[in-house]
This record gives sequence, C-alpha cells and structure tokens, in this order.
Amino acid sequence: MQLFLDTANLDEIREIAAWGVLDGITTNPSLVSKEKQDFKKLVQEICQIVPGPVSAEVIATDPQGMIKEGREIAKWAPNVIVKAPLTPAGLQATSVLSKEGIKVNVTLCFSTNQALLAARAGAYFVSPFVGRLDDINQDGSQLIQEIADMFAIHDLETKVLAASIRNPVHVTQAALAGADIATMPYKIFKQLVSHPLTDKGVESFLADWNKAKDSVGAVVAAK
Ligand code: G3P
Repeated sequence: MQLFLDTANLDEIREIAAWGVLDGITTNPSLVSKEKQDFKKLVQEICQIVPGPVSAEVIATDPQGMIKEGREIAKWAPNVIVKAPLTPAGLQATSVLSKEGIKVNVTLCFSTNQALLAARAGAYFVSPFVGRLDDINQDGSQLIQEIADMFAIHDLETKVLAASIRNPVHVTQAALAGADIATMPYKIFKQLVSHPLTDKGVESFLADWNKAKDSVGAVVAAK
C-alpha cells in the first residue's frame, strides 16, 4: 500500500518527503485555504517537492465549471491529479476529463455504490472517507474492504485511496482491507513510525556502547 500525506503545508511535506517513504499528496479546499497562498503556485511547489501524484480539487460545482477548472489544473504540473466530488456533476466532469487523459481523484465517497459509479466514470483514484464514517458510528474500514473486493471481482482499474484517516489503526485497517493508498495528516504519519520500545532500545544500545567506548573504538575513524 502506498502512503500519501493529506496536507498542503510545505514544511510538513518536506519533512516527511525526506524519509524516503512518501508516495504522493492529497489536498482539498479546506487544507489549501489554511496555507493562505496562491492555489496554483502552492500546488506547483508541492509537485516540485513530491514527484508522485498530487491531488488538487476543483471548486466549481457545475459540470462545465469542473471541466474547465480540471483542464486548467491538469496543466499545472505533470504529476498533478484533478480532484472532484462524488456528485452527478463530478461524475460528468470525471467521464469527460478521463477521456482526455486527465487523471481524476473522485473524492467524498461514502458508499460502495458511489465508488462503483466513480470507477465507471473513469476515476483514476476514488477516495472513501473512513474517519467521517466512523465519526457517525458507521464502519469506514468495512467500506474500504467492500470497494476493494468489488473492484477485484469486476477487474476495475480505479485505485482505492483511503482518506479521512483519523489514527494509525486506520492505516493498518486500510492496508488489510486492500486499499491501494492511504492518505493521512502529518500528525498520523509521524505516529506510524514511533514506538516507545524502539526509543527505549536505542537509548539502551547507546548507553551500553558508551560504557565500552574506550575499547570498541569509533565506527568511522575521526579525521
Ligand atoms: O482530504 C481528503 C480527506 O482526507 C479529508 O478528510 O475528514 O480529515 O477532513 P478529513
């Protein structure tokens, strides 16, 4: 499963990109608005930092407006992905844009039937929102499983991008449910790597090494 960051914050992106495990970025109008920067310039800068897919969402709610914005966003960088909501207008825009070779991430997906429609419209990604379903006492991870199973049964090429991730367990559940990608906030990404026993182990290794430093020498000889 690939790992994406769900953010438009350049500092967060640069930090995690340095780890060598960042496969892409998703943004949305709320995340972009937080940065208070020009949308096009911000997306282009993100696309420079991360070579993988970078999703940028249309703002229009009508099909023609979405198509016009999608064609413009697609010009911003070779790795930009146009994002459109799972509405009738979003499906119409996706079916037009995908036929023009423009990759679309169909977002705000909350049901298996919605995901089927997105795939039939030619979506490159479909983004089921796990956390927002959990927030209303529905099983978001179960939705990921159903969509992944349905796409496998019917050999549908659209990739499942698990979104609205609220905690590290959601990432594990998405991976086990068959998601192709999980996109998560910076805070969750950092939590993936951390474990108190790892920190404790490093600390005790160093303590033992330092006790013997006169005899073990240095790994790299001082110049
Ligand atoms: O950006 C798409 C999605 O990951 C946002 O989810 O629920 O954290 O706003 P949420």
